[in-house]
Amino acid sequence: MQDIIISYSLEADLATAVGRIAPDRLFVLADDTTAACCWPIVKDYACLAGAQLITIGSTDGAKTLDTLATVWQRLGEQGATRHSALINLGGGMVTDLGGFAAATFKRGMAFVNVPTTLLAMVDASVGGKTGINFRGLKNEIGAFCDARTVVIHTPFLRTLDAENLRSGYAEMLKHGLISSAEETTGLLAFDIFDVDYEALADLVGRSIQVKERIVAEDPYEHGLRKALNLGHTIGHAFESFALENHAPVLHGYAVAWGLVCELYLSVTRCGFPMALFHQVEHFVSDVYGHFALDCKHYDHIFDLMTHDKKNIAGQINMTLLAAPGDVRINQVTQRDDIFEALDYYRES
Ligand code: GLY
Repeated sequence: MQDIIISYSLEADLATAVGRIAPDRLFVLADDTTAACCWPIVKDYACLAGAQLITIGSTDGAKTLDTLATVWQRLGEQGATRHSALINLGGGMVTDLGGFAAATFKRGMAFVNVPTTLLAMVDASVGGKTGINFRGLKNEIGAFCDARTVVIHTPFLRTLDAENLRSGYAEMLKHGLISSAEETTGLLAFDIFDVDYEALADLVGRSIQVKERIVAEDPYEHGLRKALNLGHTIGHAFESFALENHAPVLHGYAVAWGLVCELYLSVTRCGFPMALFHQVEHFVSDVYGHFALDCKHYDHIFDLMTHDKKNIAGQINMTLLAAPGDVRINQVTQRDDIFEALDYYRES
């Protein structure tokens, strides 16, 4: 199980994280953005003395086998051993790809995640999922492997752009929904257009606790962890569809739209309260706008869902809610149900 530090002193907490590993060599993986904005903040820390920086592209489009091979190559060329450590300094792409690079290099070297985006803080960097996209499918290849330590330094959020902040917030809303009505209402009341960063830091800590609790019970997603996929069956299909059409959308936006569709199914199939559904629907529409859908694309969007990792025997297997905190996993969902949800969303 990984240790998660909500950091008030990045230097001291990174020193703790590195000290626990006592690596023979230290590497830092950053993307173009964090190499420019975050690496200068940490590079003179004594605990990072001699660390070698590896930089990769900064978009989800760089989360490929080629980029992974580049990281393995740089580690090999610069003398990394299985006793070395990699610090992943960046958003979810860096923590996912860097985690997978570390998990597989010489059969595994230690890594530390230092997430710099909200999405990575509350989701990607926590819980041991690592991987890359493959053949147009998100996170198709990967492994479960925990970071030794995750250092959450919320002041990074003050420099995050509004779109990426909102993207991460969708995962927090999901955590609220699978946790309780109280958490959900609190998240819906937060003013994401005029952010109070101290209040946000508090919400981030609570959101991570929701994920930690679930992952501790079911680290390999045999059951309960599927709760964390709420909104993602349809959301991932929207995201892949948008990418194919050269109009990529941020992950959390796709999740937010997917949440509306899957909560619609939660209302019709599991009795999720209609009033709360409408509250979520309005919040999503205010904050994330609307995903432009055409019924002529439903078949293809459905095909994209057939690749979802939760599916069993070719059937779409969704996570729905009977109420906030009352999670129903393994809901086999037929094509007609999904088309009905897409119709509702398109017309709403
Ligand atoms: N992002 C979902 C999970 O970590 O299981």
